[in-house]
Amino acid sequence: MQSVHPWPYARVSAHRGAGTMAPENTLEGFRAGLHHGFHAFETDAMLAKDGVPVLMHDERFGRTIRDTRSVPELTSLEIRSLDAGSWFAPQYTGVPPAGFEQAVRWCRANRVWLNIEIKPAKGAELETGRVVGRLTGELYADLVREGGATQAGIVPDAPLFSSFKPEALRGAMETAPNIPRGFLVDELPENWREVLEEMKCVALHCNQRRLTPEFAREVKALGYWLFCYTVNDPRRARELFSWGVDGLCTDRLDLVRPSL
Ligand code: G3P
Ligand code: MG
Repeated sequence: MQSVHPWPYARVSAHRGAGTMAPENTLEGFRAGLHHGFHAFETDAMLAKDGVPVLMHDERFGRTIRDTRSVPELTSLEIRSLDAGSWFAPQYTGVPPAGFEQAVRWCRANRVWLNIEIKPAKGAELETGRVVGRLTGELYADLVREGGATQAGIVPDAPLFSSFKPEALRGAMETAPNIPRGFLVDELPENWREVLEEMKCVALHCNQRRLTPEFAREVKALGYWLFCYTVNDPRRARELFSWGVDGLCTDRLDLVRPSL
């Protein structure tokens, strides 16, 4: 089956909201992404100790926050009082990680589309999918509609979930059956087709470094949309689009422009 429905979202989205322009997964970062002309962001949602999602890429702090603890050890309020900005540049000192709900509300108010990567801490795959699904469903209740998780039924302004973890997709499918899902892969797992089918996905999200034109054709021939991360060279972006890639995210908001 060849995909007959055109990709309904922006072709280029800003990785973690700001790419390399500002601290990732913070509202300051989101503002920077918007300021650079992007209206489509990828972001990472993880559950804090109290079961409330925050935008964090790494389970253990250390890279973007000077702390030795991890996301599941702290409540969302505690996490949202940490400094996730000074690692990036002194002028961002004290900028906290964004709360999930806070970020979604900001995106909706600013007409920014989201690819929500469900990023579970180890052992919390199903639960993270369920919680992020439920909350997202509530925050987009006015847009989400029956059949909205199929290519034909998609509402372009509603978000797209993705995850490396099939169980996280399963959780989101349970609580938000009408929000579409993409399966994220790096090294291609043997069962990628089975996961796409079982989790009723609309898209495969691939590491651009591993993509070949043959594999792109295979994915498209199966009827799935194809999304690539993280593409920082405009020539490479054009090449991927010429292979049939539908959408991609970038860290280089200055080079890989939304109009590409
Ligand atoms: O969703 C695309 C990309 O963000 C996946 O990798 O590690 O940057 O979250 P990562
Ligand atoms: Mg991500």
